[in-house]
Amino acid sequence: MEKIALITGTSSGIGLLTAIDMAKAGFRVIATMRDLSRNTRLLQAAADAGVSDRIELRRLDITEFDSLPGAVAEIFRHHGRIDVLVNNAGYALGGFAEDIQLDELRGQFDTNFFGHVALTRAVLPTMRAQGVSGSLGGHIIMISSISGLVSNPVTSSYSASKHALEGWTESLRLEVRALGIKVVLVEPGAYDTDIWERNVRIGKIALSEESANKDRARRFANVVKTKLRKGDTREVSRLITRIAQDPNPNLRYLIGKDAQIRYWSQRLLPWKLYEKILLKASQID
Ligand SMILES: NC(=O)c1ccc[n+]([C@@H]2O[C@H](COP(=O)([O-])OP(=O)(O)OC[C@H]3O[C@@H](n4cnc5c(N)ncnc54)[C@H](OP(=O)(O)O)[C@@H]3O)[C@@H](O)[C@H]2O)c1
Repeated sequence: MEKIALITGTSSGIGLLTAIDMAKAGFRVIATMRDLSRNTRLLQAAADAGVSDRIELRRLDITEFDSLPGAVAEIFRHHGRIDVLVNNAGYALGGFAEDIQLDELRGQFDTNFFGHVALTRAVLPTMRAQGVSGSLGGHIIMISSISGLVSNPVTSSYSASKHALEGWTESLRLEVRALGIKVVLVEPGAYDTDIWERNVRIGKIALSEESANKDRARRFANVVKTKLRKGDTREVSRLITRIAQDPNPNLRYLIGKDAQIRYWSQRLLPWKLYEKILLKASQID
């Protein structure tokens, strides 16, 4: 039977490449994006890979919470099942915690946390029904981040949203295990996508003259721009595709050498030494 995969945020980056890889692996992919006018890159990539007929485009903004159950029902009506949900859409909000306004922080949570929660809740009844009598209900794959496990300065909002996603997902996995639904967290380090350029958002006052932290924030922004090494995003899309085909996946998949180094240095080094190294690299002291 043809498997149906629903992916959010497929106009660029990890979502786009995952749509292509999953189509190549034989899934029928419902590739969603909040603005269908940004479909050019996905359509071109699908044509280049010879998988255009396996990819169906739909508009979906994960912060339009009330529309999500209807969108899922529509997909179910057309395809009769949803086997994989990849909660990928997201963005990163930068700025010292002191400078981020509450509405900006709420916006970050609306996309990176509540959007994933709302779409997952909309899909769960379908997967629950598929999981009756011991068969596989489906896979829910959350694209978290190394920032869901460790925090950097100047990205407290992003880290907080990904930490929330980690906690919610860890609980959900236990709750739906008996229903045959496999819940997974993918935790990438830095990968070369639009999140660092087109989709980066800086708090309104974070770099402005109004901010008491502006000089330090500018130094940090310069470090990110000039020093950060980013991996090949295909590693992440291939991993997600593998997880989607694994009947018994782990809870967590940390990916990227930088992510491994951050994770293990935080756990193994004395805390004060770890902070000293991190602050030196961040240049905010
Ligand atoms: N790249 C990295 O270094 C990295 C590392 C760790 C985790 N991640 C995570 O990976 C995921 C994908 O990011 P990416 O790196 O591939 O960045 P990206 O190229 O900027 O892609 C993000 C995608 O999310 C979409 N999006 C944003 N808000 C949305 C909304 N409200 N509804 C629907 N779609 C929305 C964007 O759509 P538009 O085209 O309309 O903006 C875009 O398609 C994110 O959750 C991110 O936190 C990335």
